[in-house]
Amino acid sequence: MRHLRVPSAETQAWLVQCKSNGWLASASVRALGEGYRGVPLLSSAPAESDPIWCGLMHMEMEEEGPTISHWVERLDPSLQELPPTTWPSAYELQGDVLMVKLEPATEPHAQAMAQAMLDQLPNVRVVCADNGVTGEFRVRELMPLLSRNGDMTTLTKVREHGAEMLVDPSKAYFSSRLSTQRHQTLHSLLSLRKERQRGLVIADPYAGVGPAFPMLMAEPGLLDGWLAGDLNPAAVELLTKNLNQWSRSLSAPPSVQRVVCRDARHWQDDPLLTQQADAVLVNLPHDSFDHIESLLPLFVRNEPVLLRGWAIRERGAEDEDRIHLGRLCENGGMKVQSVNLEPVKGFSATKSFVSFEAKGMFSDAFSS
Ligand SMILES: C[S@@+](CC[C@H](N)C(=O)[O-])C[C@H]1O[C@@H](n2cnc3c(N)ncnc32)[C@H](O)[C@@H]1O
Repeated sequence: MRHLRVPSAETQAWLVQCKSNGWLASASVRALGEGYRGVPLLSSAPAESDPIWCGLMHMEMEEEGPTISHWVERLDPSLQELPPTTWPSAYELQGDVLMVKLEPATEPHAQAMAQAMLDQLPNVRVVCADNGVTGEFRVRELMPLLSRNGDMTTLTKVREHGAEMLVDPSKAYFSSRLSTQRHQTLHSLLSLRKERQRGLVIADPYAGVGPAFPMLMAEPGLLDGWLAGDLNPAAVELLTKNLNQWSRSLSAPPSVQRVVCRDARHWQDDPLLTQQADAVLVNLPHDSFDHIESLLPLFVRNEPVLLRGWAIRERGAEDEDRIHLGRLCENGGMKVQSVNLEPVKGFSATKSFVSFEAKGMFSDAFSS
């Protein structure tokens, strides 16, 4: 098979170029030694003499024997003899950033592991050791190990439900695992819009980089505005860029567009943020229940509204939690119409991750 011989640092750029032109063969990139790599080309790719290749050589190479199905098979044979438990069995990809939790036994071989992963996974740009989530912003401590093109940054783009989103896993929380929940949010808001017969203003005070929004914006006429924010300034920077990008596709300008970097519990002190939201999202799973009362002043008055959120709660305590949630809303002045709370997945031996919703209305007549 024909391969384009490229300096290692340019591999990613050439992969993108070949892929976008439909010239990239499905075989893996080959290590050629002396700092060069072979990018596999389809026979339909332009000839070596074409100026598109900027003078880079083409090489015919025999197809590699049996397909290499796992990156471990690309390690030096002496490393492959180590116990299989030396190597991580799982990793997470966000855009072109691969994050791997390293066992102590892996650490001395982290560079070799990262190189084998880059060789096996052409869509990966940088491999990082993932030392877990830290602090109130739930941000990962990442240590970049090796990059395909020298770019060791963790800023990248992910695609979700057809939209591109800027993320940076070392600076702001994002999890693609909650994408089904975002779908459910859309369903709940569609049903609220049906009741209200007009576009909705959504408050997302723990918005992170804003993954709740693209799906809502894609639904014609669903959003009439947003109050979005986060306490983490790095998240707010990405959120602002993402919202600017996504909102370009809206047919009508939303009535409210406010992005803030502030503790959600203090939004109630700002008249520009209160009594406007038709729905409020509460995504601070370890503390959601403790924050609910301080968020209720964000709701619009005299109209049906929806509180939707996620929390980590004791397993099996759903009935008590439903009552607790209803009381929190009533204490804040909501005339509660319905309360729902369901486990979504296990969190630990004693706790579950639950989603919850409360529907109701805040009436001027009820407030003191
Ligand atoms: C679990 S993440 C959810 C992020 C986003 N909604 C998502 O689904 O990807 C919680 C977010 O709340 C932010 N946060 C933590 N404490 C906060 C507070 N008191 N007020 C506002 N945001 C807070 C964190 O920085 C983080 O981005």
